[in-house]
Amino acid sequence: MNAPLAAVVLCAGKGTRMKSEMAKVLHPLLGRPMAWYPITRAFEAGCQQVVAVVGHQAEQVKTTLAKAFEGQPLAFAVQQQQRGTGDAVASARAALTGFSGAVLILYGDVPLLTADTLSRLVAAFRAGKGPLAMVSCRPGDPTGYGRVLRGPGGRVEGVVEHKDATPQQRLIQEINAGLYVADARFLWGALETLTPQNAQGELYLTDIVAKAAKEGEVAVVEADPREVEGVNDRAELAERAELLRARINKRHMQAGVTLTDPASTFIDEGVEIGPDTVIGPSVTISGECEIGSGVTIGQGSVLVHTTIGDGTDVKPYSVFEDAVVGPRCQVGPFARVRPGSVLDEGVHLGNFVETKKTRLKKGAKANHLAYLGDAEIGAGTNVGAGTITCNYDGVNKHQTVLGDGVFVGSDTQLVAPVKVGDGAFIAAGSTITDDVPAGALALSRTAQTNKEGWAERRKKVLEGMAKKKD
Ligand code: UD1
Ligand code: CA
Repeated sequence: MNAPLAAVVLCAGKGTRMKSEMAKVLHPLLGRPMAWYPITRAFEAGCQQVVAVVGHQAEQVKTTLAKAFEGQPLAFAVQQQQRGTGDAVASARAALTGFSGAVLILYGDVPLLTADTLSRLVAAFRAGKGPLAMVSCRPGDPTGYGRVLRGPGGRVEGVVEHKDATPQQRLIQEINAGLYVADARFLWGALETLTPQNAQGELYLTDIVAKAAKEGEVAVVEADPREVEGVNDRAELAERAELLRARINKRHMQAGVTLTDPASTFIDEGVEIGPDTVIGPSVTISGECEIGSGVTIGQGSVLVHTTIGDGTDVKPYSVFEDAVVGPRCQVGPFARVRPGSVLDEGVHLGNFVETKKTRLKKGAKANHLAYLGDAEIGAGTNVGAGTITCNYDGVNKHQTVLGDGVFVGSDTQLVAPVKVGDGAFIAAGSTITDDVPAGALALSRTAQTNKEGWAERRKKVLEGMAKKKD
C-alpha cells in the first residue's frame, strides 16, 4: 500500500519586487490567486492534507486561500520570521502532527507546475529506496539557483546554493527546482539539525538533500524549466500568465471548442465550455462561467460570471456580468447584459439593449435600443425600439412587470412600479404610468392634428421676412 501524502506549500515570502500592497501569492493569474495553482496540484496528486506556510501579510493570505479551498483540508502555519526555506517547512510540522507518510514540498509562487511532473515525482519517490525525491531542471542560465551536486555514477550528493558555490560548482547546469517529496519522519528529523552556517545565514531546506543521500538514494525527476519558474515581479507574472492561458486554451480546443484566435482569447481557469462552441477573436471569459455546446461567442465579447445555454448566438461586442442566458437565444451585437439578468430559452436581445435585474421569459424580444431594469418580461412579448423602464425615482428602484404576448410600441416609457397584463398593446411613444389590463390598448400621447398646406405657407412667410431685411 502507498503511504499517505500531505503537502507543505511555502507562501511566507515578502515578494518585495512585486511592489504591491497585496501578498505576492495572492496576485491573480487567470482568475485564481497564484498559490491556488500549487495547492490545487497538491490536492490533485492525492494529498490528504495541505499546509500553507504564511508569513508576510499572513491574515490576507489565510483569508483568501481559506475561502478558495473551503471544505477542503487546507491548514495554515505561520512562519514568524523568514529565516529560510528550511525554517519555513519546519513551521508546518505542528499542523501535520500525527501524520506519517510522505510530504510534498511546493512553492506558492511557482504556479506552472503540472500534475504530470508531480505524479512523476511521487512515483520516483515510491519506486526509490531513499527518504527523498526532488525535481531538477536545466534552464538556459543557472545563475542564482542551487546546483545539484552529483558524485560517482551520477549519484546525488547534495545541493549547493549559488551564493555558497565555488566557481567550479557554478559551472553545473543542473539546478534544484525547489520541489521535493520526503518521508515525514526523515524530514522533521533532518530539519531539526539545520544550522545557518552559510553565505545567507539562513536555514537552508536544501541541506536535507545531503542528509537524505547519506540514508539512501535521492531520486531526481527532471522537469521543463518553464514549469518550475517562480514569479518575482509583474513582468514575470505576465509571462507565467501567458503560458497558463495557452495551456487553458489548448485544453478547450482539445475538448472540442473552436478558438478562432487563441492568441487573443482570455479564458479564466475553471471556465466550462461545451463542444462545438466557437469563440471569436478578442473574447474574454472570466470568473465562474459556464458556456454550453454549439454556442457562438462573437468577436470582442466579454463574459464575467455568466452562464450561456446550448446553441445561443452571441454577436460581437456584447458584455455580460452575473447573467444567466438560456439556450438558443440571440444576443447582440453590442448588448449589455448586467447583473441579475435572466434570459429564458429563445430570447432575442439586439443592439444597444441594456438589461439589469430583469428576466425575459421564453421567446421574448427586445431587438433595438432599450433599457430594461428591475423588470419581468413575459413569454413572447415584443419590446419595441427605444423602450425604457423608468425604474428609479431618485431614491428607490421599482418593478415593471409585462405579461405574456404583450406588444410594447417603440419609444415607450414604462414608469415603474407598473404592470401590463397579458396580450395588451402599448401604442408607440406612450408614457405608461398606470397598470394596463390584459388585452387592452394603452395610449398616452396627444392626438395628432394635420394642418393642410402648412409647409408652403410657412415658406412664403419666411421668404417675405428675408426680403424686408434686404
Ligand atoms: C530556493 C532553493 C534553491 C532553488 C530555488 C528554486 C533553498 C535554500 N534554496 O532558493 O536551491 O534553486 O529555490 O527556485 O531552499 N520562503 C518562505 N520562508 C522563508 C524563505 C522562503 O516561505 O523563510 C518561500 C518563498 O516565499 C518562496 C520559496 O520559499 O516561495 C523559495 O524561497 P526563495 O527565497 O525564493 O528561495 P531561493 O533563494 O530562490
Ligand atoms: Ca526563488
